[in-house]
Amino acid sequence: MPNVVVIGTQWGDEGKGKIIDIITPYFDFVVRFQGGNNAGHTVIIGKETFTLHLIPSGILHPGKELIIGNGVVIDPPALIAEMEGLRKRGIEVNPDNLHISKGAHVIFPYHKLSEKIREEGSIGRIGTTRRGIGPCYMDKAARVGVRMVDLLYPEVLERKLKRNLEEINLIFTKIYGGEPIEFSSLYENYLNYGKLLSPYIKDTYLLLNRALEQKKSILFEGAQGTLLDVDFGTYPYVTSSNASAGGACTGSGVGPIHIDSVVGIMKAYTTRVGEGPFPTEIKDELADRLRNAGPIGEYGRSTGRPRRCGWLDLVAVKKSIMVNGINKLILTRLDILGYVDKIKVCTHYLWKGKKIEFLSEEINLWKEAVPVYEEMESWEGDISRVKKFEELPIQAQKYVERIEKELGRKISLISVGPGREEVIQREPIF
Ligand code: GDP
Ligand code: IMO
Ligand code: MG
Repeated sequence: MPNVVVIGTQWGDEGKGKIIDIITPYFDFVVRFQGGNNAGHTVIIGKETFTLHLIPSGILHPGKELIIGNGVVIDPPALIAEMEGLRKRGIEVNPDNLHISKGAHVIFPYHKLSEKIREEGSIGRIGTTRRGIGPCYMDKAARVGVRMVDLLYPEVLERKLKRNLEEINLIFTKIYGGEPIEFSSLYENYLNYGKLLSPYIKDTYLLLNRALEQKKSILFEGAQGTLLDVDFGTYPYVTSSNASAGGACTGSGVGPIHIDSVVGIMKAYTTRVGEGPFPTEIKDELADRLRNAGPIGEYGRSTGRPRRCGWLDLVAVKKSIMVNGINKLILTRLDILGYVDKIKVCTHYLWKGKKIEFLSEEINLWKEAVPVYEEMESWEGDISRVKKFEELPIQAQKYVERIEKELGRKISLISVGPGREEVIQREPIF
């Protein structure tokens, strides 16, 4: 079996969790390689709904090995709660099937506090999930971060934590007039988390490369989406990690030569949570209609915030296909477009009289570009039980074919409902 990266092509919440869940049976390992518990990946199995934040969605299949790679940032109490929550629901979580990288960075309460201060300040609100993700990656890049392995060595944790608190408490007290963070209880708590998690903390890059030597196959589970990637997204309105395919290698320790395929997940329309540019956003009541259509509405899985909704933006998706090297495309939530009367799809933008087919970093492009739409007919009735492309209403077929023509590639799989069975396979994904 090949090694495959699954990536969101938009601003997250494309339905990655569902797709990971249905393809997991073909792989031995499922790896999260970036982000943290800002992610919320939903998997529906029968009447049961699971939302995964840090643990790879593949955990729902017995016998698979799950890795939380070095590129991930981990909030230990959140991870422990997620592990407990799964166990209570009868899902096996033990040191034989879950492996946490020694090199993954640790989120502390002070990361969440500094994010809160910044988000509530007067400049640069991003609309983050306030999980401390950005400040933790800041410490990583500043080379002062605490890694999972450090939780296993009391004297190392003490030294690093004291050093960080000295700096942070100066900022909290002198600039913001707040209370300093106390060392000893924080230290004790995190030592304890380290003890609890120690059987899981490993050199995961070694595990993965040894598995490759034994011809085992790896599925890399992207979190967020390409337009939230810190390099290729709508900077600065992005997350702080590489959510695009390159992150799979740096965030796991598997070399690019081992990646056989990059699968892009594209929602049939667009959503975005938080601030930032969104040219095809719908600003009237139609957005509510899209948000509340179908069995599960568009509300953030991590924060419960209503997702902003808009039409499919093919300019944005074209950039994703390019920067990720996507060779297979999956379309999700097509069923939702059956709830609107007309469908629009953005094929290009107009900016300063020019046709824009590929995004540029040009200042003000986002503010001034006007999306150009093609309007298409919608269809009547529920399509969630359709199993063959030819059995879809003709309008739905035309919509899919229009997207394929514009992107110059076939859509391999179409998801028509949240359930495991609700898919139309048109060609093998790998
Ligand atoms: P992720 O973050 O990319 O894993 O996506 P989320 O789980 O945050 O959001 C996607 C939502 O759409 C979830 O509630 C899924 O259960 C649901 N979903 C996935 N595919 C489909 C589909 O084809 N149709 C419908 N109606 N819902 C879907
Ligand atoms: P999944 O994996 C959608 C968004 C936040 C905010 C920006 C930065 O479920 O697709 P952060 O807390 O990461 O610093 O916030 O990124 N964001 C997501 N939006 N889905 C996600 O994950 C997201 N993770 C972060 O709303 O705009
Ligand atoms: Mg999500």
